[in-house]
Amino acid sequence: MCGIVGAVSAKDSIAFLLEGLSTLEYRGYDSAGLAVINHGLQRARAKGRVAELAARVEQQALSGTIGIAHTRWATHGVPAERNAHPHISAGLAVVHNGIIENYEALREQLQALGYVFTSDTDTETIAHLIQACFKGEIGEPAENLFSAVQCAVKHLTGAFALAVVSEEEPDGLVVAREGSPLMLGITEEGHYAASDASALLSVTQQMMYLENGDVARLTRDAVVVVDAVGQPVKRDIVTSHLSANAVELGEFNHYMQKEMFEQPQALGNTLEMLSGAGQLHPGIFGADAQGVFEQVDSVLILACGTSSYAGMTAKYWIEQVAGIPCNVEIASEYRYRVSVPNPNQLGVVISQSGETADTLAALQHAKTLGHTHTLAICNVPESAIVRETALRFITRAGPEIGVASTKAFTTQLSALFLLTLLLAKGKQRLLEADEKAYLDELRHLPIAVEKVLALEPSIQAWSQQFANKHHALFLGRGRHFPVALEGALKLKEISYIHAEAYPAGELKHGPLALVDAEMPVVVVAPNDEMLEKLKANMQEVSARGGQLYVFADGDSKVRSTDGVKVLAMPEHYGLLSPVLHVVSLQLLSYHVALVKGTDVDKPRNLAKSVTVE
Ligand code: G6P
Repeated sequence: MCGIVGAVSAKDSIAFLLEGLSTLEYRGYDSAGLAVINHGLQRARAKGRVAELAARVEQQALSGTIGIAHTRWATHGVPAERNAHPHISAGLAVVHNGIIENYEALREQLQALGYVFTSDTDTETIAHLIQACFKGEIGEPAENLFSAVQCAVKHLTGAFALAVVSEEEPDGLVVAREGSPLMLGITEEGHYAASDASALLSVTQQMMYLENGDVARLTRDAVVVVDAVGQPVKRDIVTSHLSANAVELGEFNHYMQKEMFEQPQALGNTLEMLSGAGQLHPGIFGADAQGVFEQVDSVLILACGTSSYAGMTAKYWIEQVAGIPCNVEIASEYRYRVSVPNPNQLGVVISQSGETADTLAALQHAKTLGHTHTLAICNVPESAIVRETALRFITRAGPEIGVASTKAFTTQLSALFLLTLLLAKGKQRLLEADEKAYLDELRHLPIAVEKVLALEPSIQAWSQQFANKHHALFLGRGRHFPVALEGALKLKEISYIHAEAYPAGELKHGPLALVDAEMPVVVVAPNDEMLEKLKANMQEVSARGGQLYVFADGDSKVRSTDGVKVLAMPEHYGLLSPVLHVVSLQLLSYHVALVKGTDVDKPRNLAKSVTVE
């Protein structure tokens, strides 16, 4: 959510800054801007995409070896040039990712000191605050920009990653973080900063991850870091495992398309430890996992968005296979509600990015309530969420750039299934033969997903019939109800068609009133224990003229007739069937969005890696 980059280099930094912003554009794309120090401070900003900014930069013929840049997802103030970052106070410019909660009080204080605001943002407050610290109007007069930023951050409440340049100090930049991610790129020819490692890959894989409370000064030759109490600290330099081409589009038209088709590989990588294994070892979740899995009496899953639907699917698995209660809570609700803590419960947080503010806060809340058994299922090993849990499983989906989550979801499901089996083992509820059979199914999963992806032409043919609809219903039962929820979410997110999902048995309690010939009803119909009940629910739709689009397992005996279109899924997959069925719904949404001509990877109003509340 918002992306920032900064550079102090031997060569011109404009190309790096613009390329970095393009890589981060998925985190926010309503406006963009950059500032460089080159005989004074120079700035370019534009409403819209990074491409608009690039045109402005060219028009203004900007260049400079020191610069900062930002791509925005609006929180305070509408998307407009005057609200775009960098924000300036005299010769000092700031880019910011996060939210400053006490900005109104600070704004009043700074206005009383004579500072004039030209935007509606919380970020402009930071620029004037640093200036006021620099001049000694707040606190002691600062010796330099580095100490001015250290002074300023002490007055900020909220989450931030900042990069600051000043024409008074044309040899470097200062960065700071609290709650929002920030990392540095270390090279021979200069130093770089970004809110996401992917933006640094064009210059280096050598990265230094800053900790909460750190403030750092970057010059061409050196990086100096102080911690939250102002003590100089050394942060390790690590080699990122990401490769630059992992974030390139290659032969695909959209990241979402690329990421859907990467699912077999992503699942194969995530489940690599199973190759040749006759049984599962709890150690894949961490050294202490075995004791924890034996001890816990229930599971609490915390997550947002698509990750929460992975959690809902796991609830069905965990209760059925491991025989212990499992609750799933939306992180933004859990963190504020009064709940009854249970120290014997396993707290599981699921997050693709590992930075989602509500999920992180929910985890911290659970810990303050006494949950010591915490476990993260996450796609980013260095993320805040992973660093704050006792146990962890890293999905190996690779970077997910499309705002609509696809491969992160299916790999999360595979990890949650492993967790289910290990909990069942911990509770002595898993027969050896069953374990072996489940492991075989997991190993075969990439091939099974491949076969679903091969259904694309038939699904594409259906998509035409959705494009002029305003509403759609998704139905599922049991462990496929969360799949229906995820299918509806995908359609909403990228095609802007209003879609709702129901457990099919609930139809008659309200949503059936919406059904008419204009209402497509998508049904997830695996051949499981609920199939006959589901068929009865489909009859209820047909009898009211609803148009059914049914994803049925080959042996489900659901036939295409007038008003009922059936697509046969290649394999019936038992407990793991949600992993296959969701892929068909991803394809459906993608093709509907293509027909509608929406911006698939950057849907309106949304962003990825939601680091604000
Ligand atoms: C955003 C994304 C979703 C994602 C959700 C949770 O809303 O657009 O795709 O599911 O955040 O993100 P996380 O990184 O915590 O899984």
